[in-house]
Amino acid sequence: MFSEKVVENLRNSSAIRAMFEEGAKLKQEFGAENVFDFSLGNPDPEPPPETLDALRRLALSGEKGLHGYMNNAGYADVRAKIAEQLNLQSGRSLTHNNIVMTCGAGGGLNVILKAILNPGEEVIIFSPFFVEYKFYAENYGGKIVVVPTDANTFLPGLEALEKSIGPQTKAVILNTPNNPTGVVYPEELLRDMETILLQKGGRYSTVIYLVSDEPYRDIVYDGVKTPSVLKIFRNSIVGYSFSKSLSLPGERIGYVASSDRIDDVATLNDALSFTNRTIGFVNAPSLFQRVVAQCLDVKVDINIYKERRDILYDHLVKLGFSCVKPQGAFYLFPKSPLGDTQEFKRLALKHKIILVPGAGFGCPEYFRLAYCTGIETIKNSLPAFTALAKDAGL
Ligand SMILES: Cc1ncc(COP(=O)(O)O)c(C=O)c1O
Repeated sequence: MFSEKVVENLRNSSAIRAMFEEGAKLKQEFGAENVFDFSLGNPDPEPPPETLDALRRLALSGEKGLHGYMNNAGYADVRAKIAEQLNLQSGRSLTHNNIVMTCGAGGGLNVILKAILNPGEEVIIFSPFFVEYKFYAENYGGKIVVVPTDANTFLPGLEALEKSIGPQTKAVILNTPNNPTGVVYPEELLRDMETILLQKGGRYSTVIYLVSDEPYRDIVYDGVKTPSVLKIFRNSIVGYSFSKSLSLPGERIGYVASSDRIDDVATLNDALSFTNRTIGFVNAPSLFQRVVAQCLDVKVDINIYKERRDILYDHLVKLGFSCVKPQGAFYLFPKSPLGDTQEFKRLALKHKIILVPGAGFGCPEYFRLAYCTGIETIKNSLPAFTALAKDAGL
């Protein structure tokens, strides 16, 4: 009666949402303050004051047309400002034509994949991966090919990447800083990856696009910098989002940027604008295009997340959990001491800890904790983690 594919996906797709619902139930039963919910990547900090000021100013400005339609790609002046910022970071020569304003990174990835994919073409992703990539690629007839990362570092294996590229490979999706591991890929690794993509593209007479999913680009710690993908990859298409950097996930605002080095990039830019329209977004929210244009150099206070990372990571490691220290984003991805995370998830629920099993991310022996939750939740959860570790035999 309904789409068979969607109904099938419903059964397997909702691990994060399922845990969120589980948390909601527990909160009702025991009180929110007694439940430690690490399920969703929904930022706890409010947007920075500069962003709220810009929103107030603009909303009250009475500017004619502020809430109207515009070009499907977004306001030209907003896109020009973004191009200018990206040029400073990458040394490239983008113009407003290379920018399409989108409904967040999720919207942006769909716009990109619809614009580049033909049915049956392959999209390479690295495990662990953001759970939605498979659905996004399948929306446009694409096939996901999963390449594992190194178990000790979560960095992509280049040999494995090379082997997985064939004549049908259309794109590689990169996500650094990474959800769920928090790992930031070093520049040298990305340069080696670019060599492989160009060589393989040459061999098959194809173009392999590097699609960079960057909602966490500005959330990095300890002096680490996110390398500029536009600088490194010739055929790069970036999907950025203000959901995390300005704590605006519900407002649905981000952009897609195409490299000026892509062959026939003018057609690609038109295609991105067209797919933004025909997926049904029409254009990104008009008011928030204006808001973010006034906040391109603003971001949420990273120390808020760093403090949370340090408290939780230090405690888990002290308890004996094995975990790569995140350099960015706001997730921990520790190994389950029981192997099977489903069992470990049930044990965690006994202690009112809501975590997300790693299976949905392609790594069933791990679990994800989103530490973008309140500081009190994190501090109060520490005894529960201690009891959980004991129960799990650590
Ligand atoms: C890796 C990754 N990509 C994309 C998204 C989608 O973000 P947006 O709110 O910008 O659509 C998220 C959201 O959590 C994410 O973690």
